[in-house]
Amino acid sequence: MTADDEVPIYDPEILKKFHLGERHETLKQDESLCVRPLYMSDYGRGFLELLGELTQVGNISEEQFQEQFNLMKNSHGTYYCTVIIDTIKDRVVGASTLLMERKFIRGCAWRARLEDVVVSPDYRGKQLGKCIVEILTNLGKALGAYKMTLDCNDKMLTFYNQLGYAKEPGNANVLSIRFPAPTLEPKL
Ligand SMILES: CC(C)(COP(=O)(O)OP(=O)(O)OC[C@H]1O[C@@H](n2cnc3c(N)ncnc32)[C@H](O)[C@@H]1OP(=O)(O)O)[C@@H](O)C(=O)NCCC(=O)NCCS
Repeated sequence: MTADDEVPIYDPEILKKFHLGERHETLKQDESLCVRPLYMSDYGRGFLELLGELTQVGNISEEQFQEQFNLMKNSHGTYYCTVIIDTIKDRVVGASTLLMERKFIRGCAWRARLEDVVVSPDYRGKQLGKCIVEILTNLGKALGAYKMTLDCNDKMLTFYNQLGYAKEPGNANVLSIRFPAPTLEPKL
């Protein structure tokens, strides 16, 4: 592993600045767990396998992962990919991403999105899902977003409702169009 591998996808000081992560009640109860930004080296800690619990991931080489990581890292405060690590097993056991989207509306505001919330099956039921959602929701708020949204299926509504997310009457539709042959790189 090189020093580059330990590069975080965003500055860990941001979590400390807003007192997020280290003081969360769930993490205080188990010192082997910590929350931090995704590292490039998390490729080797089972990050992609964990995302496989959420959806289809595909065969992503370490080189592909690093290239995507660097594009996200260099995107000027857009991607806050965050993980929960079991520091004893040195494995990624939880993950989610806060996406900060720049807008022209509302005086050039930020809109926040919560993406890809997942906890390893062996670690479920220990409040880790709740923990990472709370941390990233507080981060979105602290970074100045005017609202934060997420997409989920019907079965997940109770989980997110108890964390403060609610359907807005008359404004709770997610519309999708799926493309049969997506390309990896935009055809610019
Ligand atoms: C959803 C998921 C992240 C929850 O993680 P978790 O660590 O097991 O959840 P927590 O232990 O933090 O649960 C917190 C609370 O939510 C409840 N909860 C957990 N999963 C739930 C679900 N699927 N539906 C309803 N409530 C749920 C728990 O009972 C708990 O309630 P309590 O505080 O009253 O005890 C995890 O089950 C997972 O990774 N699932 C597969 C991926 C997925 O579906 N992600 C969501 C995409 S929108």
